[in-house]
Amino acid sequence: MSTFRTLDTADIKGKRVLIRVDLNVPMKDGMVSDDTRIRAILPTVRDVSKRGGKAILLAHFGRPKGERVPEMSLAPVVPALETLLGRPVGFANDCIGNDAAQAIAKLSDGDVLLLENTRFHKGEEKNDPIFTSALAELGDVYVNDAFSAAHRAHSSTEGLAHQLPAYAGRAMQAELEALEKALTSPQRPVIALVGGAKVSSKIELLENLVTKVEALVIGGGMANTFLHAQGYPVGKSLCEKDLADTARRIMAKAQESNCAIILPVDATVAYHFQAHAPTQTYGVDAIPEDGMILDVGGLSVERINAAIDEAATLVWNGPLGAFEMEPFDRGTVEAARHAAKRTKAGQLLSVAGGGDTVAALNHAGVADDFSYVSTAGGAFLEWLEGKPLPGVEVLRQNG
Ligand code: 3PG
Ligand code: MG
Repeated sequence: MSTFRTLDTADIKGKRVLIRVDLNVPMKDGMVSDDTRIRAILPTVRDVSKRGGKAILLAHFGRPKGERVPEMSLAPVVPALETLLGRPVGFANDCIGNDAAQAIAKLSDGDVLLLENTRFHKGEEKNDPIFTSALAELGDVYVNDAFSAAHRAHSSTEGLAHQLPAYAGRAMQAELEALEKALTSPQRPVIALVGGAKVSSKIELLENLVTKVEALVIGGGMANTFLHAQGYPVGKSLCEKDLADTARRIMAKAQESNCAIILPVDATVAYHFQAHAPTQTYGVDAIPEDGMILDVGGLSVERINAAIDEAATLVWNGPLGAFEMEPFDRGTVEAARHAAKRTKAGQLLSVAGGGDTVAALNHAGVADDFSYVSTAGGAFLEWLEGKPLPGVEVLRQNG
């Protein structure tokens, strides 16, 4: 990628390399319960270490709001990091000051050290130049490998790039390349699948997507709001009725932009929101008054899959139904498997991301078959909304 400085051009040997990583990983009983984000940073850490740099990892965990909250220490992440990296990883109790400086002074070339949660300091989230300088003192080079935190303009995600020579790490680079192929300069036609519970959290995203893609599939609870806005009955389904005008505005904008909106034509309905509740499929014009739409129906899946067949590029965010509960996972699973099959056959470039999406693709058993699955939640959404991400913008080369 020509527009970002990457590790390829960085001077690493013998340098103290501050690497911003995202170790905001799910923990259970004091252990890392999902190591996806740790795996993502291994190429960068190994590269720096192999080239004789001192790899000093900066990361946040949780939202301690500038306080030293013991439960939000990064120390419990060290064992998982060591196992995956296959080498010892040091730990310093603070990310600035004496503790950090002394730990760094002891490093040999190629060593790896993790510094304590950057958000234990108030300056981090304020992007305070004094705090940023305290971080910058500890390094010679800055590498950002945390795309998933790049929507934050914090000292460790943005500020540092102004004070040290700054480069995109391998995971950041892979993410930017995938996103570029998906929306910035994609092969057309592009189809977007957007699901999830609420329209209210995805208005900007939908408004941006209709101007960028040829087809937009709307599923999940948010489809109910669109159906309601078109005059269909939605029974007791989740529905943001006060957003009917917004839904109509988005549909009008789609029409102006020649983007086809694909809504469910039938739905899996149950009367109780519980696993294995008895279900029936209804056309969307015949949803019973006391029924709840919990998934797209079989005809809708056929239509979605047919639309995927027409596309060269797919962007996916959010499940099509209440996928965490059987049998309401069916629509999501079938569409995901179809997209995976097209991808494996070389007919589709598929990019997915955002909170539940990765869980849904893992549940369908196809996360590895997509062209690219983002580790980001909020950052992926903001990127889909068309917003510049501060941590990315600052890495762009200006000439
Ligand atoms: C994430 O988990 O999405 C990122 O690490 C960002 O965390 P934040 O939402 O607390 O800024
Ligand atoms: Mg988050």
